[in-house]
Amino acid sequence: MRVVVTGGAGFIGGNLVYALLGGGWEITVIDDLSTGSMDNVHPATGFRRLDVRDPRTAEAIIAASPDIVVHLAAQVSVAASIEDPEFDREVNVEGTRLVAEAAVAAGAQRVLFASSAAVYGEPQELPLTEDSPVAPAVPYGASKLAAESVLAEVLRPAGVDFAALRFANVYGPRQRAEGEGGVVAEFASRMTAGISPVIFGSGTQTRDFIYVADIVSAIAAAASHEGALAGPGPTGPAYNISTGIATSVNMLAEGLRVALRYPGTIERADARDGDVEASVLSPGKAASTFGWKAAVELQDGLDATGSWFARQR
Ligand SMILES: NC(=O)c1ccc[n+]([C@@H]2O[C@H](COP(=O)([O-])OP(=O)(O)OC[C@H]3O[C@@H](n4cnc5c(N)ncnc54)[C@H](O)[C@@H]3O)[C@@H](O)[C@H]2O)c1
Repeated sequence: MRVVVTGGAGFIGGNLVYALLGGGWEITVIDDLSTGSMDNVHPATGFRRLDVRDPRTAEAIIAASPDIVVHLAAQVSVAASIEDPEFDREVNVEGTRLVAEAAVAAGAQRVLFASSAAVYGEPQELPLTEDSPVAPAVPYGASKLAAESVLAEVLRPAGVDFAALRFANVYGPRQRAEGEGGVVAEFASRMTAGISPVIFGSGTQTRDFIYVADIVSAIAAAASHEGALAGPGPTGPAYNISTGIATSVNMLAEGLRVALRYPGTIERADARDGDVEASVLSPGKAASTFGWKAAVELQDGLDATGSWFARQR
């Protein structure tokens, strides 16, 4: 299978490429290295350093003649999206349009897009399903939702199948501590450096934390599914990629303390404004449509993540 992975030099992209090259995928990575790193790019991939807003990206996708395009490249910082929503929109919406149009021109069969739980905004009900209301609270969530619509607009008339995979909170090796939403990476890098991690608020706030290998297996399952993924109906091609399990920040910190045998303290600070108190996403639709289910237990994922961070020092 020939696959183009945009954002393949990033945290999720690097894990995806390393895991799937072995499975016979022929991969071209397109990445501008704005937050990614060549350390994440396997030497056996074709690598093009390009911005997804650059027309040369379309040429590179067409030249690669992919069966599948996995579109991960994005402006990923919630804070940056608030500071500069126009830049966020350009990369996440217009970049997605360029990639989708190139996928059509390249004759690709399917596009898999990295969407986000941020499209839901403040949850009105738990667990969130693909039928839950979408009301993004930040420009990053709005641009991901708009990109989902762009995919439908460009790909449906062209008969190219697609799915918007709405990832929950992903953690694992290769994640950057300075990245957004990377609380596990932040805690792990602090603990390995002997610096106390800081929990904002009570630590009882929950998220649906999913280990990156489960994201990789979801993308692989969606890529090789034989039926169509972009079904009809309002939620058509959206799929939650999540565990369905609510994990508190306190549980995470404790799990990492065990993983890293961290002997120090964990600091507490005031809750941050606008933090969602509880979030968990039902993964049932992905299970029933393309037979995928998260398989990695939280402590196993934290152990593997902790070992990776410890090795980086
Ligand atoms: N990590 C999470 O918890 C999470 C949750 C939901 C959705 N996502 C989505 O998953 C995808 C991958 O995220 P990640 O966590 O691996 O982040 P990341 O920052 O590690 O990866 C993003 C990659 O895209 C590249 N990139 C950014 N702008 C680009 C541009 N204009 N042109 C070309 N390349 C560009 C970066 O250099 C980087 O390699 C993103 O679309 C993100 O929005 C991530």
